Amino acid sequence: MAIRLLPPDLANQIAAGEVVERPASVVKELVENALDAGARRIAIAIELGGKSFIRVEDDGVGMSAEDARLSLERHATSKIATSADLAAIRTLGFRGEALPSIASVSRFVLRTRARGATGGVEIAVDVGGGSASIGGSVIGGPRAIGAPEGTPIEARDLFYNLPARRKFLKSDSAESAQVSRIVTQFALAYPEVGFTLTSGGRRVLQCPPVAALPDRSFQIHRERPDLTPLRKDPAGIRLTGYIAALAEQGPVRGPQNVFVNRRIVRDKTIAHAITYAYSTATIKERSPEVHLFIELAPERVDVNVHPTKAEVRFLEQSLVHEVLRRALMDALGQSRPPELQLREAVPGAASAISGPDSSLESGVAALIGPGGLPRWEPASTTRPAPLPGVFNDPLSIRATTTAPEQPATLALQTGMVLAPEGTFQRQTTIAPDRPLVPLGQFRDTYIVAIDADGLCIIDQHVAHERVLFEQILDRLTSGPLESQRLLEPVLIELSAGQRQALMLHEADLSRFGFDLVEFGGDALRIASVPALLRFEEAAGAVRALAEDLEGLDRGGRDEEALRRIAATMACHAAVKADAPLTFEKMQYLVSELRRTAYSTVCPHGRPVVLRLPRREIERNFQRA
Ligand SMILES: Nc1ncnc2c1ncn2[C@@H]1O[C@H](COP(=O)(O)OP(=O)(O)OP(=O)(O)O)[C@@H](O)[C@H]1O
Ligand SMILES: [Mg+2]
Repeated sequence: MAIRLLPPDLANQIAAGEVVERPASVVKELVENALDAGARRIAIAIELGGKSFIRVEDDGVGMSAEDARLSLERHATSKIATSADLAAIRTLGFRGEALPSIASVSRFVLRTRARGATGGVEIAVDVGGGSASIGGSVIGGPRAIGAPEGTPIEARDLFYNLPARRKFLKSDSAESAQVSRIVTQFALAYPEVGFTLTSGGRRVLQCPPVAALPDRSFQIHRERPDLTPLRKDPAGIRLTGYIAALAEQGPVRGPQNVFVNRRIVRDKTIAHAITYAYSTATIKERSPEVHLFIELAPERVDVNVHPTKAEVRFLEQSLVHEVLRRALMDALGQSRPPELQLREAVPGAASAISGPDSSLESGVAALIGPGGLPRWEPASTTRPAPLPGVFNDPLSIRATTTAPEQPATLALQTGMVLAPEGTFQRQTTIAPDRPLVPLGQFRDTYIVAIDADGLCIIDQHVAHERVLFEQILDRLTSGPLESQRLLEPVLIELSAGQRQALMLHEADLSRFGFDLVEFGGDALRIASVPALLRFEEAAGAVRALAEDLEGLDRGGRDEEALRRIAATMACHAAVKADAPLTFEKMQYLVSELRRTAYSTVCPHGRPVVLRLPRREIERNFQRA
């Protein structure tokens, strides 16, 4: 497609500003051009972090001599022609700004040969010499050259004519890291394109073309069991990628690469949805690694909002937020519980609890066959609207009657184990609305339950903690929690730092139902606690909160304090280990667990459930 000068009124509609900030921005613009030119292979080379030398070479469609000359004019582009085109941009470039901007701040050489042309051309731009003038710079050429099809472009001595800008560049290694990052991002977004990056003659990245994202992700990240795949297609918005899985030590920290229609962007709406999803899943969230691809019709997103094309504007911002938040929560909530292995497949290897499956390259998929393993899926993440502040939790002390706990006669109540014919056939007909049935309690600490796909061992304390954590955060949105006044206020002694931490969050704590008053000296008086807590837990819970909140960053977000308080409360209000439970209570806990958004890990990241899959049982009975 031929390059034309944009009419001035259209040129004026384009988000204006500085295009070239650093070597990485030059690389970004040149790689975008290569991709728009349909390149299948792109080779990038830099020296001294890109300050002294950048070359981007592609095997795309190339340019004619006339186009090559025009490409250096401001507002000259082959990608849009009318202002209507701005409403649905399908290319990475559209401003006709990048090449003239780069050429005006570097010693610039463009070589190109159009596909099918007999020869190529070369144009050199150097403010210091040459003959003709373009946009204030002086150019040499076009000059006919022999060249392979495609376009290599070189930019040397960036900002050589703008010493003030050059001074603001970071160290070579810092600039080179930025270049690596941007090339890695492109490589993830364009698996079908081959990328190489060389820095100071050293090969930093080499990714031959592959079929799809999982292969490219493997080329770049190798095996990453700490990432969980995401794939959703709601409301015409296609979401794919890999996100940090929930883990005991917290989701892995790392870059948050977000792509909208394969364009790398920063976006507050997206960032907020990510933070939200993780913050309700775990209190160890901070900066989880995320590689997220969002694709939607180009009409639904405005890319003409930022001079370096680093931001976009969604026409339906809240829809995108909602869709993304749900998809992330689903992906996180459906991470599989750790699986138990009865006997090692390889003799000599220790029997193991295998970690959550990476699903990337895993052989498990092959074992399970098409359709995959039925997952421990939350039944629903929507629950009936709660009464403000009121919990109806049969496991919490306030809701229980004083009747002594009767250990359940489980077999009869489930009607599963003692099936009349003594067969296990009925188990395969478990109704879909009752997929997990508790059988009994092991050592008054673990609930043993079954579903069609195997056996689950649930840590009752951790499970209840997860349930309460989500319920507490949920109820908090509709007002303060129910509080109970202590008949005898409790006095506790705390360090000055801990007292301070508590008083700093007094308002937050009162939303949860705590009434804490400084009592002089080191003492603090606990006048009220959340109704959810047992009286005898009051002092312990407040101490734990003091420690938690003291450890919190001063500059931390308010939400983080709320989540910490909720997690600590959930921990103290949850049923303990070594506590006998009636069958009804087990059933309540199991069904509530299935209603939580994230049922496999507690807010601190510990596993809630261990699963012994059916295939493992069958294998060991040699029924496989
Ligand atoms: N590597 C390339 N291969 C083929 N054509 C190219 C290449 N690089 C640039 N061009 C042509 O030169 C034109 C100008 O490129 P430039 O990057 O300055 O603007 P743009 O890509 O149209 O918009 P933007 O400023 O948003 O990047 C492009 O529209 C394209 O036609
Ligand atoms: Mg461009």
